Amino acid sequence: MVTAAVFAKLGHNCWVVEIDDEKIEKLSRGEIPFYEPGLGELIAKNVSAGRLHFTKHYKEAIPGSEVIFICVGTPSIKGKIDLSYVYSAAKSVAENLQDPAIVVIKSTVPPGINAKIKKLMKNYTQVEFDLASVPEFLREGKALEDSLNPYRIVIGAEKKSVARNLLQLHRKIPGKRLVCNPVSAQLIKYAANAFLPMKISFANSIAILCDKFGAEVEEVMKGIGMDKRIGPDFLAAGLGYGGSCFPKDVAALISLSRAKGYSFAILKAVEKTNRNQVDYFVKKILRLCGGSVNNKILVVLGLSFKPGTSDIREARSLLVIEKLQKEGAKIRACDPVAIPEAKKILKGVDFFENPYKALKGAEALILVTEWEEYKNLDFLKIKSLMKSLLVIDGRNVYNRKKLERLGFIYEGIGK
Ligand code: UDX
Repeated sequence: MVTAAVFAKLGHNCWVVEIDDEKIEKLSRGEIPFYEPGLGELIAKNVSAGRLHFTKHYKEAIPGSEVIFICVGTPSIKGKIDLSYVYSAAKSVAENLQDPAIVVIKSTVPPGINAKIKKLMKNYTQVEFDLASVPEFLREGKALEDSLNPYRIVIGAEKKSVARNLLQLHRKIPGKRLVCNPVSAQLIKYAANAFLPMKISFANSIAILCDKFGAEVEEVMKGIGMDKRIGPDFLAAGLGYGGSCFPKDVAALISLSRAKGYSFAILKAVEKTNRNQVDYFVKKILRLCGGSVNNKILVVLGLSFKPGTSDIREARSLLVIEKLQKEGAKIRACDPVAIPEAKKILKGVDFFENPYKALKGAEALILVTEWEEYKNLDFLKIKSLMKSLLVIDGRNVYNRKKLERLGFIYEGIGK
C-alpha cells in the first residue's frame, strides 16, 4: 500500500491487488486496515485523483502494467521462511501478463530465490518479463517519511536496461542509490535487519552493565555514538526489539546460514540478549514490588511493538504481561491504538484507553512502549491516584529527578 501510494503521489497510475476480502472491503470504503500516520490521507487523495485503484483481481491490474511490485508477506516461524505468498503472487502475475513487464520483488526473500521464481513464472506465461529485487527498508509508523526520504534505494537487477528503468522510476525520490545483483540486494535487506538489532542488543547488554556499575546508559551510548564509525542511531537501550521484521529476519538469517553450513554465532547472541532483556525487566519489577506481584494491580503502558503503529507482532508488551500474569499480577493495559489487536491475544487483562483511569489504585506504572502521550503524563495527578508510587520504565524515557522529587520510586534499564 505504501509503495502504491508513493508512486501514485509521484504521478504514476497504480493498481493494488489485495486478495483478502476484509481488507479490500475496507479499502473500497476508503479505510486502511492498520494504523500508519498519513497513509490514509495520501491514499484518499490519490484515489480521488484517479491515480490509485484497488482490486481483488489480478486480471484487472496486471495487463498493461509496466512495473509490477510483489510486496506480500514472508512470515517466518522459528526461522523457517514461508514463501507460499510470494510464489502464489508470482504465479498469478505470470498468468495475467499480456505485455512485457519488469516484476520487482519487494518482499524480503532468501538470497538467490529469483531463479526459482522466474522458472515458476515461465510455466504460466510466454510473455517476456524481467525479474528484479528492490528491497523495502521502511519503518512502521514512519512508512511515508522513510519511503519519500530513504537513506538509500537498492536496485538488484541483472540487466543494465532493467536497472536504468528502475532508477528512472525512482528518480523523484531522494537518497543514495546502489545498483547491484539481485542476490546482493536480497542479502542487503537481511544484513541491515540483522545489524540494527545487533546494535540494540549491544546497547541492552551495556545497559545491564550500567545497572551493575552505576553508569547511565544514555550517556554511554551518546559517547560511543559520537564516533562516526559507530553512529548514534539504534542504540536506545530498554526492553529490546519487537515487530514484524527484526525478530523474523534475524531468525531467518540464522536459519539460512545454518542451511549453508554456517553457524551465525553473533546473531544467536543478539536473539538471546533480546529474550533475556524481558526476563531482566520482569525480575526488576518483582524486586521493586517487594519480591512478589501476586494479586497486585500493575499498569502496563503501551502494547504496540513501538509507538506510531497498531502492530503488536512480537511486541515486548505481550511477553512482559504474560510473565507478570504467571506471577499472579492483575494487569491493566493501555494503548492509544493497539487495544483491538491486543484483545485478540491477551487474556485476563483489563484494557483502558485512559491511563489515568487505569492508574487508580495501582501498585506500579510499567512503561513498555514510549508513545508520546505516555512520555508527557501529569505525574502530579498520578501521584494522587496510585496506591504505591512506583514507576518502572522499560524505555528509559522518564526523568528520574523529576519523579523522585514528586516522591516516586523510579527505575529504568541501565539508569
Ligand atoms: C525495521 C527497520 O528499521 C526497517 O528499516 C525495516 O524495513 C523493517 O524493520 P520497524 O520494525 O518498523 O523497522 O521498526 P524500528 O523503528 O526499526 O524498531 C524495531 C524495534 O526495535 C522496536 O521494537 C523498537 O522499540 C526497537 N528499538 C529501536 C530499540 O529497542 N532501540 C532502538 O534504538 C531502536
